[in-house]
Amino acid sequence: MKTQYFAATSLDGFIATEDDSLDWLFPLGDLNDSGYPEFIAGVGALAMGSATYEWMLRNSERVAAETGSPWPYVQPAWVFTSRTLPIIKGADIRFVKGDVRPIHEDMRVAAGTRNIWIVGGGDLAGQFHDAGLLDELIIQIGSVTLGRGKQLFPRRVLSPTLRLVSVRQIGAGMAVLRYEVCKSGGADAA
Ligand SMILES: NC(=O)c1ccc[n+]([C@@H]2O[C@H](COP(=O)([O-])OP(=O)(O)OC[C@H]3O[C@@H](n4cnc5c(N)ncnc54)[C@H](OP(=O)(O)O)[C@@H]3O)[C@@H](O)[C@H]2O)c1
Repeated sequence: MKTQYFAATSLDGFIATEDDSLDWLFPLGDLNDSGYPEFIAGVGALAMGSATYEWMLRNSERVAAETGSPWPYVQPAWVFTSRTLPIIKGADIRFVKGDVRPIHEDMRVAAGTRNIWIVGGGDLAGQFHDAGLLDELIIQIGSVTLGRGKQLFPRRVLSPTLRLVSVRQIGAGMAVLRYEVCKSGGADAA
């Protein structure tokens, strides 16, 4: 069982525009070619921050048109927020806040032998990393730059913490980099 941050980024390190748009992402390639189907099949629990969840809320019709459901995940999900947010119909969600460590333990129990997916955003993935709980980063780098936006991973992680284990090209629009997090390495919050 691994805890994985799987996300797509622009070449200059942003996972969304500053106003939380992902419209730049969708023309870059087909999700089915990205390794996502194999990845999600191995996921037993997932976590996301409130901005990511609110994107799902705002785009529920689009998500439903593409996946058949306004909430595309069958796995139990933990949404980090200090606010009260509406529940998407059919979603297996619990709203949580604060220290990621006890929540990770609940996720681990729910996931069993399968993996935990930290969907994003970048700071939430960083919180799991700060606690020594992140095992892998699987990053799809799109052939675009955004100039500004929501950061991929707002942490300072110095060599040799991240070990690059694979690189895969998906057409002209994307490269997928997979990193293992070496737990003996150092990490300082930026
Ligand atoms: N390209 C990709 O693959 C990808 C992947 C994931 C997300 N995204 C997009 O990227 C953007 C991410 O937005 P973001 O960077 O703002 O991150 P986010 O993690 O989605 O949301 C951040 C918010 O989550 C809440 N939160 C985070 N940690 C918490 C904690 N420990 N306890 C309580 N609340 C906590 C806080 O808001 P409140 O307390 O105010 O609720 C915080 O402001 C979204 O637009 C999303 O759609 C893209």
